[in-house]
Parts: sequence; structure tokens; C-alpha cells
Amino acid sequence: MSHPAAPFADHLIGRLQSVRSRTAELAAPLSDADATLQSMPDASPAKWHLGHTTWFFETFLLIPSVPGYKVFDPSYDYLFNSYYESVGPRHARPKRGMLSRPRLDDVLAYRAYVDEALDRAKMRGLLDLDLVSLGIAHEEQHQELLLTDILHAFSQNPLRPAYRSPAPMPVGSAPRAQGWMSYAGGEAVIGAPSGEKGKTVFDCETPRHRQIVPSFCLAKGAVTCGEWARFIEDGGYQTPLLWLSDGWEAAQGAQWTAPLYWRWTEEGWVTMTLRGEQPIDPDAPVAHISYYEADAYATWAGARLPTEAEWEVAATLHAVPGNDMGTDRLRPAVQRGEGISGLFGDVWEWTASAFLPYPGFKAEGGAIGEYNGKFMSGQMVLRGGSCVTPEHHIRTTYRNFFHPQKRWQFSGLRLARDS
Ligand SMILES: [Fe+2]
Repeated sequence: MSHPAAPFADHLIGRLQSVRSRTAELAAPLSDADATLQSMPDASPAKWHLGHTTWFFETFLLIPSVPGYKVFDPSYDYLFNSYYESVGPRHARPKRGMLSRPRLDDVLAYRAYVDEALDRAKMRGLLDLDLVSLGIAHEEQHQELLLTDILHAFSQNPLRPAYRSPAPMPVGSAPRAQGWMSYAGGEAVIGAPSGEKGKTVFDCETPRHRQIVPSFCLAKGAVTCGEWARFIEDGGYQTPLLWLSDGWEAAQGAQWTAPLYWRWTEEGWVTMTLRGEQPIDPDAPVAHISYYEADAYATWAGARLPTEAEWEVAATLHAVPGNDMGTDRLRPAVQRGEGISGLFGDVWEWTASAFLPYPGFKAEGGAIGEYNGKFMSGQMVLRGGSCVTPEHHIRTTYRNFFHPQKRWQFSGLRLARDS
């Protein structure tokens, strides 16, 4: 007998299978040694991402829903729990690089075991579809992290290995997006409605609510590498008056003189990419900068960062596909056109907004409630997705967040100003 929810369930299971396969494809170019590297405490080994995303399905879907489910390996709960206090103790995050065992093959076998169990549970109608949706979104987040963490690991290797062979970037005929777009002020509706069937949103994007957004202007394109090079030449990194106090301290402490991965050579600036070390493209968006650097640049340019509400107002009007994981370029590309360009894809855009609950926000109950709400302190919101964000994972209301000193994500900026 067919169930009324069957087509939706089939669609979701199809998505689940394609997302799980893509994760395996992303890891396919990596050796066991590559996949075990942890280059800094913020980054995780690829092998850990493969195991943790699988643990998520086992812990939150299979164990609670499938009577008699037998876990693949009881020790994996300790190894692959990330930050879920309600689930139990876990291996220390900065020591994930010590996990030479289980071997990569063992983790891939774990993935296959859980995938088969998910398939059987689906056939028996045992899966909570909301949790399948969350598990898919969670795995997509880790796909992006897998790539950003591998980029960081490979950047530490003097051979500067390429994750993927270099490929020519597209050459367009339209001019690079330059200048400003004006937006009238007024009452704006911000955030996502919760509980819409078939639409995945994280709890932090809800509730949908009204905000007064005064009129503003937004740059038509993200700040480029060429523009960033002029900031460097003009002494941007040596001028304390441009910087927030915490930012100046961070920049001095870490001796920042350029974006992460930039290196000066006789031929000019080069940057580490997933396609090996490459000359910077002066017309492409700058990436791998902290919030502090973005803010200092905006001050230098006589502008400011947009609020997340301003960004969302603009993105609602100009939603377009962008240079995301689906293009397979794996680098920010030149943003072209007469209008606003590149709001989605290329680089996550730092906003001036702290990651805080929307009015009326309520975290989910139980372990799933640990997903976003507990991180609402000391982090800034980024919008729009990057060149390594899975294409189904980008939307107008999406709120990414990182600490203001972090630089290893594909983070850049777009300027705003009052109008
Ligand atoms: Fe996770």
C-alpha cells in the first residue's frame, strides 16, 4: 500500500544517497595519510569528517528508530562525537589528527554499513524525515569543511600539493561588477518560516520576523584581490587607526600582512588554492580574510560592512545561482555584469552582525538543540555561501558564523554604505 508521504520520502532518500556519494567522491583523491592530517585545532582530518557525518546518522536516526540496531563499532561514539554534550564524552578536538586508527578503509566500511542500514530503515518506514533532512544539511556542511580543512593542510606542505589539477578559469565578456546598488529603506521581513514541508532551514534562521532597515547602498561586487593588494600597498596592515582594538591585537599577535595563503614572490602575489599554488587573480574576490581584516578594509575604503538584514534584503531581490561547489571551480571567480553580482557563491561575506538569536528564537529540545543556539556568543554572521559550498546548501536566509579572527574558510567581504 502506498503511503501519502512516499514521494517526498523517496525524494529525500534520493538526496541522501547523492549527498553521501558526493562526500565519498570528495575524499577519493586523498591518501590515508592526507585524510589523517590535522593542520590546526580548528580543522579536522578528512577521515574524521567521513566518520562524524556517519556517526550523526547512526546516533540520531538509526539507534533511536531501528529496533535491535547494532552499532558498527561501539568505540566510534567516542571518536566521532563532535560537540554534543547530551550524547556523551568525546575525543578532544585538537587531537583528532592522532587518529591513525581506524584506517581510512575502516571508516569507509563504516559509511557503507550505515548507508545500508539507512536504506533498510527507509524501506520499513522507520526514518524520521525531518532528521534525514537535517542529516543531509549536516553532511553538506562537512563537505565544505572537508575541502577548507584539506586546503589548510596542503598549504602547510612545502610541495604545495594540488587537491585537484589546475583548470583554466572562465573568461567572460561582461565587465566586472563595480559601483553601488541603492536600496530604499523600510520594513523588511527577515528570516525563514519554520516547519515548511520539504524546505530545510536551520533553527537559527527562524522565526521569520519584521525589521526596520534604513536605506543603504551595497557594492555590486565583492572586494577583489587587486583592491586588497592596494590596501596592503597603502599600509593597511600597519595602520592601527583602521582597526578595531581586538583586531589590531589579533593582527599584531599573528603578524598578519596579507590574507591567509598569500605569498609574495618575484612574480607578485601567489595564493594557495585547491588547485595548487596559483597567481592571485586581481579581479576575483579576495578570500581567507578575518572579520577584523574585513572591517579594517571597509574603514580604509570609507565604507562599512553590511548588516545581515541589509544583505538579506538585497539577496531576496537579486537571488541568482553562483559559483558554488556545483561549478567545480573550487576558487572564487570574477563577478561580472551591470547589476549586483556574486551574492551567492565565491566567498562567504562577513557582515557587521553578531550571531544572535532572532526575536522569539527557541532552540530545539534534546541533543539537536545543540546544533546552533549554543554558539550564539562571540561569533559574526557570514552570508551567501562560497565556491566550495554545496549548491543545495545556499539560500537567502542562511546564517553562517565564525569567530572574528578565523581565516581558513573562503571568507571575503562586500562593502556597504549609508545612502
Ligand atoms: Fe558536525
